[in-house]
Amino acid sequence: KRGIIVAIDGPAGSGKSSVARLVAERLGIAKLNTGAAYRAVALLALREGVDLGDGPALGGLAGRVALEPSGVLVDGRRVPEEELRAPEVSAAASRVSAHPEVREVLLPVQREAAERARRAGGAVVEGRDIGTVVLPGADLKIFLSASPEERARRRALQTGREQEVERIRRAILERDRQDSERAVSPLRPAPDAAVIDTTGMGLEEVVEKVVGLVRATD
Ligand code: C5P
Repeated sequence: KRGIIVAIDGPAGSGKSSVARLVAERLGIAKLNTGAAYRAVALLALREGVDLGDGPALGGLAGRVALEPSGVLVDGRRVPEEELRAPEVSAAASRVSAHPEVREVLLPVQREAAERARRAGGAVVEGRDIGTVVLPGADLKIFLSASPEERARRRALQTGREQEVERIRRAILERDRQDSERAVSPLRPAPDAAVIDTTGMGLEEVVEKVVGLVRATD
């Protein structure tokens, strides 16, 4: 469907990234990963020794981040996916994202990226607050969930760290807590989101379900 915007939100390990990528491929539209923008701010803070508690300084770093369907840019240069995915960057991203100064700067960055993608054919936009705050007018809102055990297992398999499921489970629970308890844009389903509990579901099954919901929109 040309010009459609699909918002996919959910906690860490809910399968958002894989589902967003495959749904976008299936529909032939762009995909935007907004978590990568928060991760880029975290990476900059770690590299440049900026305190993860210093909201105004982190807001300044956020001004150097751009978002595109192909990935995230810092100072105009693409940041490799592996650098953004490091566990210390994940933990720092969750802290960084709680600062209103950071969210304020990244809000128009995300909206403008989504608008460009919409005009170019449409987009699947994934994150934590896409349906609630960033794009409340999205044509379809999906909220993916799964039990913490299942999410930890998926993350461990995905990253080849099968021995560390328990440690990953604790890290995921800590991020869930920070992301849902923060005052600004906490992680929660939009009132009009379709909530899909993916515990026990295969990836392909979830993708089919979302594509079906897209086809059912008018
Ligand atoms: O989705 P991903 O795990 O890459 O996101 C990294 C972190 O960025 C999340 O833990 C969350 O704190 C933050 N985030 C956010 N709002 C978004 C996307 C991500 O606060 N829309």
